[in-house]
Order: sequence, then structure tokens, then C-alpha cells
Amino acid sequence: MARPSPDDRPKVKITRARLQQAMGLFTYMRPYRWRFFAALVCIALSAFSTSLFPLFLGKMIDAAGGHATTPAPSAFSGNMVPGLGARLKSANWSLNFCLLLIFLQLGVQTIFSFLRVYLLTEVGERSLANMRKDVFSRLLTMPMSFFNEKRVGELANRISSDLSYIQDALSFTLAEFLRGIFTLLIGLAFIFWINAKLALVMLSVVPLLAILAVIFGRFIRKLAKRAQDQLAESGNIVNDAFHGITVVKAFTHEYEEVNRYSKSVHEVVDTAITNARYRGAFISFMVFSLFGTIAFVMWYGARLVQSGQLSIGLLTMFVIFSVLVGGTFAGFADLFSQLQKTLGATESIRDILRETGEPVTLAHIETDPAFRLHGAVRFDNVVFHYPSRPDVPVLRGLSLTASPGQQVALVGPSGAGKTTIASLLLQFYQPDSGRILFDDKDATSFPLSQLRHQLAYVPQDVILFGGTIKENIAYGRPGASDEEIEAAAVKANAHLFIAGFPEGYDTLVGERGIQLSGGQRQRIAIARAILKNPAILILDEATSALDSESEQLVQDALDNLMRGRTSFAIAHRLSTIRNADLIAVIDKGAVIESGSHASLMAHNGLYKKLNEMQFDFNISFSDENT
Ligand SMILES: Nc1ncnc2c1ncn2[C@@H]1O[C@H](COP(=O)(O)OP(=O)(O)O)[C@@H](O)[C@H]1O
Ligand SMILES: [Mg+2]
Repeated sequence: MARPSPDDRPKVKITRARLQQAMGLFTYMRPYRWRFFAALVCIALSAFSTSLFPLFLGKMIDAAGGHATTPAPSAFSGNMVPGLGARLKSANWSLNFCLLLIFLQLGVQTIFSFLRVYLLTEVGERSLANMRKDVFSRLLTMPMSFFNEKRVGELANRISSDLSYIQDALSFTLAEFLRGIFTLLIGLAFIFWINAKLALVMLSVVPLLAILAVIFGRFIRKLAKRAQDQLAESGNIVNDAFHGITVVKAFTHEYEEVNRYSKSVHEVVDTAITNARYRGAFISFMVFSLFGTIAFVMWYGARLVQSGQLSIGLLTMFVIFSVLVGGTFAGFADLFSQLQKTLGATESIRDILRETGEPVTLAHIETDPAFRLHGAVRFDNVVFHYPSRPDVPVLRGLSLTASPGQQVALVGPSGAGKTTIASLLLQFYQPDSGRILFDDKDATSFPLSQLRHQLAYVPQDVILFGGTIKENIAYGRPGASDEEIEAAAVKANAHLFIAGFPEGYDTLVGERGIQLSGGQRQRIAIARAILKNPAILILDEATSALDSESEQLVQDALDNLMRGRTSFAIAHRLSTIRNADLIAVIDKGAVIESGSHASLMAHNGLYKKLNEMQFDFNISFSDENT
């Protein structure tokens, strides 16, 4: 997985409340807690064994110079357990023994390092997989209003980046942080043990430098961020231009686009050059002070060697330990900001997990005979507005009755509320007042999944999933056989064009496959609905994207499909619904006329007007359809 760039998530303050929240996510680690603790122990042990390395190296150097170790100054070792520390310091080990110790230490360290990486990755990956699954199913069961309000693509991206932050934290950052703390403590202890004076000299300079580096570094990062933003801006120009390439070309705007781009690129260059000044200053400052400090400490250490208070081996040890401690310290700033960002990430994940979804059944659904629909549907004075737009009433006291097996056509101007009626039938939203009844029982008295399972919906804009045509049709009834799928496609008049593709039903559709025309997609969606064999069928302008010829073909298929079951057909072209049992004319969120085609035509209302407006257009059809 791509690691998120370090700047795409804001840092948050570390507070007790946030830490507690983050701890909540640790429940996902509970099944693996022993492994996690084992990993922590491995981290401690590997940090400890790492710190033995400089010790043995120093001893080796002293061994090379024969006996160079001087007794430790009594002022220091006097307070210690008499002996052990001092004895270790003055111990004379042979070269070979030192090498043996080093390899022993390396062996131990190798094992612990391996175990720590392995265990933490396992714990991180496994608990993250569970977290991912929970987040996805929570999102998927969210009510429709949630998806209206949020930009879902953005949300999905944010979440996947947040989850990978958490994963990084579990399997990397946290471990590094702990290892850093261990290394720092052990390293400092060793430094003081080697020579307290020298340690104090070093520590009087280094923290000051570290603080300066952090402040300076922060400033530089801010500058870099500005350059990044500008770069992204010019990236947007490129994207926009290619996205709207037809417009750019049709309006001969190439020159303007190039100008716009080159102006933005120059801005990037200006910022980058300004930044380079500061960065150059920062780097030279760091180089100077780092090496200056080393020189200064070495100078002081060398004087201690000169005066016989320190051996060369101990000085070497000291230098290596200092580098270890210094490096760890420098890494902390980064780790810390990483952990802050992780805390922010856990917050948004927790927010999602706290939301309540719709009461859908997350299991394979079979129709329960107790809830089997017979097909009677009634809208009883339904008032509704979309949650995202409380000030815009959409349905204003809509009443409508369909008896079992009846074909109801919904017609009316666009924006009248027809698609909204379909959404309410599917229980995507609940009415503000009034009721929707299935078989004279309130819709809310059915388990949500039971109800939806018995409806089939062919939406206005058909979305096909990436995958094969076969899989897309089988979405209507998972587990359907190839023969059933083909039979459904034949009925939807989709078989011919599907069979015309070289790969037939195995043709990939969507982004990575073939792009189907609107009419072809609609016929696949119809085949999907045919395969589902629902009690109630909802067609939202199912033939709107078809040309006249295939419309006739599909209309026949739909007539077959609708026969014997309750259906709601939202129609754009009135010629397609003349034979409906009931035509309801919807305007401004209410039924203003209803009846058969003949009775509505006899009455001088909106239906007749709409028909007359479409008459010229559909003249070739009206003969066949009436
Ligand atoms: N998801 C939505 N959020 C807010 N308002 C919506 C949403 N969908 C539709 N509307 C509004 O509801 C009204 C009815 O829309 P719709 O049912 O799609 O009309 P129709 O299908 O009859 O053309 C319109 O004014 C539309 O702007
Ligand atoms: Mg619509």
C-alpha cells in the first residue's frame, strides 16, 4: 500500500481525551495482545543489545593498544555499586574475546530485530484488516443521506489513508518510538558511565542545537509546503486542460492554457528558489554545528585521554554512543509528528465507527415467507424533503395506490419528484409525514433487507461494476447459472449485442474494459432485474437512453417483465406507457391527475398537454402503441 505523504493529514494536539479515544481502537489488537507484548519485549532487548555494540568496539580498541584503560575517577564510581561498573570499565579483554562478544551480541540482536519486525507486522496487518472490514461495512450500511452529504470518493480516500497511518503507527512508528526511548535511556546511562564530565560537556551543547534544528526545520517545512501547494495548483491546470480537452480544442484555447501553465510554473520556481536559500542556510548551519560539536567534544575527550582520565577505547565508545543518542534524538521530532497525525487519523476512523448505519442484514438474504410481498403499495399523504435541503419541499402530500400486479406509470415534468418516489419506495429515505404501505402494512414494519430484497430497481443512470457482463447481470441473483443469465439477457434484448463481443458474456466492462453505450447499459440493468424476479419492479426512465428501434425491443421485454407483478414505470416518453393500468401525473410533488390513457386524454389537463407536446416526436410510434 502506498504510504501517505507526510503532509496530507493535519497534526493534532496530543490530549488525554484523544489518547483515550485512540486506545478505543486498541480493542482491535486484543486478539493479538500477547504477540504485541512479545514484540515490545523484543524491541527493548534489541535496543539493549544494540547498545552493547559500541561497548565491545571500545574494548577492542583498548585491547589493540595493550592495556590502555585507566581506573575510573573515584568521584564518579564512588557512588556506584563498588565494583561492577568500574570493573567492567577496567576489564582487559583480548581482541578475540571482544570479537566473539560482538558476534554473540549481533546474533542476539538479529533474532530480536527479526522477531520485532515480524510480530509487529503481523499484529498490525491482522488488526488493521479487521478495522478496515468494520469501517467498510459501517460505511456501506450508512443511509443514503450520508452519501448525499459527503463526497464519497474523497471520503474513501481519506479513510484509506487514515487507515494506513494507523497501520504504520502500529507496525512501525510506535516501535520506533519505543526503541528510541530505550536507546536514549540506555545510551545516556552509558555516556555518563563512561565519563560524567564529558557527558555533561556534550549535553550542554546538543539539546540547544536540537531545539534550534527543530524550530528551523519547522520553518523550512512550512516553506516547502507552500511550494508543494503551488505545484499542485499547476498540476490542476494540467488536469483541467486534459479533462476538458474537447472544450480546449473546440475553443482554440491552447495558447491560453499554455500561458496559464507557464505562469504557474514560474511561481513554483520563484518559491523554490527562495526556499533554497533558507534550506541552504539550514543545512550549512547544521553541518557546521554538528561537526563543530564533534570537534569540541573530541577535543575535550582527547584532553581527558592526555591527562590519563580516559582510555582511547572509552573515548571511541563515548563518540559512538553520542552519535546513537544524537541520531535517536533527532529522529524523535519526526516520529512525534507522525504519532500526532496518527492520533488525528484514529479520530476520523472512530467517528465513522460511532455512526449508526441502516438496520440492514449483513448476511445472505432469503425471502422470509412471513414478509413475502403480494404487491399492494400505497403512498398515504406523503410529505418529504431531502435531509440535505430542508428548505426545499419535494413531495407535498402525495397519495397513490397500486394494487397487486398493477402497472403504474409515473409521468410529469422533470424535477416533479418521480425519482424521489422511487427512492422512498426503496426506503432510501423516510417520509417526514404520511406513510408508505406495502400490503397495507407500514413499510417500517418490514425488516429493511427483506423489503429491498423483493424490489428490483432499474435506475435512471445505470452503474455497472467493474467485472464481466455476466457478473453484472448475476448481481440480480448471485449464484444464477449461465443459462439463467443468458435467458435473462435474451428477455432484455441484450443477448444479441453481448454475443457480438468477441468475449461474449465474459467481456469486461467499466474502467478496465469496454465502454458500453447508455442503451446497452440499460438493457444489462434490465436483465439484472429480470433475473432477480422481484415482487415489485421500479423502472426509472428505463428506456430513456435507447434509440427508437431498441426502445421497441426493450419495451416488449419490459412489458413481459411487468406482467403479473406490481410495477412503477417512470416514463419520459409518454408513448411507452399508454397501456399502463394507471397513469399518475406528478407535478410539484403531488399527483395532480390519474387514470387510464383514454380517461386522461378525455380530460383537458397536464397529461393531454404533455402528450400533445411529444406528439410530433413520437409520431412513428403512436400507431404501433395504441
Ligand atoms: N439527493 C437529493 N438531495 C437534495 N435534493 C434532491 C436530491 N435529489 C433530487 N432532489 C430535488 O428534488 C426534486 C425532485 O427531484 P427528482 O425526484 O429527481 O425529480 P424527477 O425524477 O421527477 O425529475 C428536485 O427539485 C431535485 O432538485
Ligand atoms: Mg428522475
